[in-house]
Amino acid sequence: MRYSRRVRKFLPLLVLLGLSVLVAAQTPAPARLQVPQLPAPGYRYTDERLPQHFTDPDPLGIGATDNTPFENPPTDAGVTLGRVLFHDTRLSANGTISCASCHQQAHGFGDPRRLSEGFNGRATRRHAMSLTNARYYERGRFFWDERAESLESQVLAPLTDPIEMGLSPGDAVARVSEAPYYAPLLTDAFGTPEVTELRLARALAQFVRALVSHRAQYDEARAAGPPGSAAFDARLSPLEAAGHRLFLTTPTPGQRGAGCARCHATDVQVLRSPRNIGLDGENQGDPGTGEGRFKAPSLRNVAVRKPYMHDGRFDSLREVVEHYDRRVTASPFLDMTLIDRRTAVTGGPIVPVPLELTDPEIDALVAFLHTLTDEKFLTDPRFSNPFNPAPIP
Ligand code: HEC
Ligand code: HEC
Repeated sequence: MRYSRRVRKFLPLLVLLGLSVLVAAQTPAPARLQVPQLPAPGYRYTDERLPQHFTDPDPLGIGATDNTPFENPPTDAGVTLGRVLFHDTRLSANGTISCASCHQQAHGFGDPRRLSEGFNGRATRRHAMSLTNARYYERGRFFWDERAESLESQVLAPLTDPIEMGLSPGDAVARVSEAPYYAPLLTDAFGTPEVTELRLARALAQFVRALVSHRAQYDEARAAGPPGSAAFDARLSPLEAAGHRLFLTTPTPGQRGAGCARCHATDVQVLRSPRNIGLDGENQGDPGTGEGRFKAPSLRNVAVRKPYMHDGRFDSLREVVEHYDRRVTASPFLDMTLIDRRTAVTGGPIVPVPLELTDPEIDALVAFLHTLTDEKFLTDPRFSNPFNPAPIP
C-alpha cells in the first residue's frame, strides 16, 4: 500500500522518463565526428586560367556580368572554407543533409529529383537550381523568383529553411564553433577563428562563385574562333553546329532560327532578367517574380541536370525545345519575343508564335545543348566532398 502510493507519487516522473527515452530513441545521435580531408598545400581557386572569351574586356562579354561584390573578393582559403561548409551535414537540424545533397556536382550542382528532399524528408517547393556559373548572373539576385538580393544573403537562407536544413537562427554559428576543424580554416580565411554569420555567408558565396564551368566542348570551339565562324564550327559536329546556329538566330519570316540566345545570352548562356515563357496560362501556377516571370540558371551543364524548369516539369531537353516550338501558352504577360508580332501590332489577342522546327532541327538544338557539358568541372576534386566518406549520422 505504502509502496504503491510511492509509485503513484513518482508516476509523473516515470512517465516523463519513459517519454524522454522514447524521444531520445527517435532523435539521431549527434553526428560522429568526421574530419574533412584537405590537401596541403590547399587547392588553388583564384588563379584559375579562364579562357579569353571569359576575360575579354568586352562590355557585352561574360566578364562584365560577374556579380562578385567589392566587399567579398574570393581567396583560396575563403573558397576552401566554403567548400567544407557546403558539404557538411552538421549544418542541418538532424545532421543528415548538406547543401550538396540537393546541389550535386555530377548534376552541375543541380538535383536529378523533380523536387528535392529536406532534412526530414519533406519536399521543397520548387526544383533545385543548378549553381554552375551562378557568378555570371549580372543582376546578382538569387532563387527562381529572385527573392534574395545577393548571393551572400541567399546562402544563409537554406540553413534556416524549415523544409531544407531546419536550423534555428544562430544554430549554424554554434554548430561551426563546436566542430574543431573549422578554427584553422576560419583563421586562414579571415585572420581569426571567430565564427560569425557574415563569415559563413561570405565563405559559402565564395565557393558558389568558384563553380565556374569553362572547359566544355563549346569552350574549345570558342577558343578556335568567334561563334558561328568556320573555325568554331569545325570543332563541333555538323548537327551540333546547326543547332548552335538555330540557338543564336532570331526567327524571322525569311530566316530559320529558334532565337534562344535572345534570352540565354553571352558565352555562358545566362539570362539578363526574369521572363515569362508561357509555361502556365494567365493566373495559373507559381507567379515567380510576378506575372509568371522566372530567372533561369546558366545553361552550362544543362544536359546532365534534368528535369527542367522551376517546377522540374520537363524530363528531357527535347521536351524543353518542343515547349518553345509549339506549346507556349498565351497570357498577357508572355514575353514579347515569344509573341506573334503581327497580332501584337494590330492590338489583337496575344498569340504565341510557333517556331515550326523540323524534327532534325529539334535534334540539332538538343545536340548543341550537349556541347555545354563540362566533364572536368563535374569531376573536379576541388569542388568535391572533402568528408570522405561523408559524415555518418
Ligand atoms: C533540400 C534541398 C536544398 C538544400 C539542402 C539546399 N538547397 Fe539551394 N536550392 C534548393 C532549391 C529548391 C532552390 C530553388 C528555390 C527557389 O527558387 O524558391 C535552391 C536555390 C539555390 C540557389 C539559387 C541559385 C540561383 O541561381 O538563383 C543557391 C545559390 C543555392 N540554392 C545555394 C545553396 C547553399 C549554399 C546551400 C547550403 C547552405 C543550399 N543551397 C542548400 C534546394 C536546396
Ligand atoms: C523569352 C526568353 C527565353 C527564350 C526565347 C528561351 N528561353 Fe529558355 N528559359 C527562359 C526562362 C525564363 C527559363 C526558366 C523558366 C521557368 O523555370 O519558369 C528558361 C529555362 C530553360 C531551360 C531549363 C533550365 C533549367 O535549369 O531548368 C532550358 C533547357 C532552356 N530554357 C532552353 C532554351 C532553348 C533551347 C531555347 C530556344 C529554343 C530557349 N530556352 C528560349 C527564357 C527563355
